Amino acid sequence: MSAVSTLSPVFPLGTRVNERGRLEIGGCDAVELAREFGTPAYVVAEDDLRWRARAFMDALAARHADFDVLFASKAFPCTAVYRLLAEEGLACDVASGGELFLALRGGFDPARIYLHGNAKSEQELREAVQAGVGHVVIDSLHELERLERVVAESGQRQEVLIRVTPGVAGDTHHAISTGQTDSKFGFAPVDARVAIERLAGGSHLDLVGLHFHIGSQLLALEPFRAAVRTLAALGDFPVYNVGGGLGVAYTAADRPPAIADYVETIVAAVHAELGEDKRLLLEPGRALVANSAVTLYTVQTVKRNVSTWVAVDGGMSDNLRPMLYGSKYEALIADRPLAGGGEPCRIAGKHCESGDLIVRETQLADPVPGEVIATPVTGAYGYSLANNYNGVPRPPVIFCRDGEARVVVRRESYEDLAGRDVD
Ligand SMILES: Cc1ncc(COP(=O)(O)O)c(C=O)c1O
Repeated sequence: MSAVSTLSPVFPLGTRVNERGRLEIGGCDAVELAREFGTPAYVVAEDDLRWRARAFMDALAARHADFDVLFASKAFPCTAVYRLLAEEGLACDVASGGELFLALRGGFDPARIYLHGNAKSEQELREAVQAGVGHVVIDSLHELERLERVVAESGQRQEVLIRVTPGVAGDTHHAISTGQTDSKFGFAPVDARVAIERLAGGSHLDLVGLHFHIGSQLLALEPFRAAVRTLAALGDFPVYNVGGGLGVAYTAADRPPAIADYVETIVAAVHAELGEDKRLLLEPGRALVANSAVTLYTVQTVKRNVSTWVAVDGGMSDNLRPMLYGSKYEALIADRPLAGGGEPCRIAGKHCESGDLIVRETQLADPVPGEVIATPVTGAYGYSLANNYNGVPRPPVIFCRDGEARVVVRRESYEDLAGRDVD
């Protein structure tokens, strides 16, 4: 059996094979982490997360004077991640009252929080206004009226942006494409004009700019350029928020644009179409947090049917993306990551659905029960889409740095599963 010589580049910065021949993340031996904290577990390399945040900030600072990078917090909404990204100087995008609560708890200055959502309730708007959220991104005329009422009651004023649907569709899964015509998100340009006029007619709302977000896991840059082009026709504003959406490499075969190339494209389009004096906001989620985390599982059974089925102790309860989008992942055995060779395997979850696959096809070298499987690139929309199907408690989140591991979200207990039941 031939050994492979290097790890896949999709693992977090600093991941390596240590002297014991095991996977090491953030200086911590992954097999030891599995022993100490149990599996499944989300393991985050803290340095990787900081490095990606700085890559966005530095790329913008080098090209444009007035900007903010907003953490699209739906991608990984736990206190420690909010806290770390607030420390790195990012602002924050929240899409519900719950995310707002978490962002405030994580230390974000309310003035640097942007509230999104296509169906914000009056209660959520009230919570945002009372918290002093800097900007609400208005998504519909009904919301405009509702927000106007809520802000009038508060006796304050509120800065707002209008979310525009530019009619641009990126090449991604239909469930995460949002910029196309006939989207549930935002205003079609003709309706955006109505909203702009209404806001100009005097109210408690100050319209400062426009927003779009055309979709997620986008691997081509042209749609971003095309979307920026559509904004100029709607007037001249001081603030433009061009959303998130930059795709990441889930496997070594994926070739996403580098963060600097993405920023270069956006800035060039904004300068050409809208001007150099604008306040420019980017809203990355996935590209900030996806590659920083690895999920560890323990092999429970191996069955050789037509395929080789390697069943682990997690699945669609901790990573719903394969079920939702048919997403592809890589995997290796953390006890011997360079083993190489082996046989084609399917890595199956423990849930009562045949579609519950973590990895549809990978090569593993004779995995046996008790060994630790690591799947990289689980930092985005893993924790946030996690659920309790089959009464499976959700995994902990463990931050690793310089060989020190700390639990930042504890594993759910069976008691937690019944925690909201009233009898
Ligand atoms: C309004 C908005 N901004 C930003 C994002 C983040 O997108 P991504 O994780 O693809 O960067 C999303 C994702 O759904 C979004 O809806």
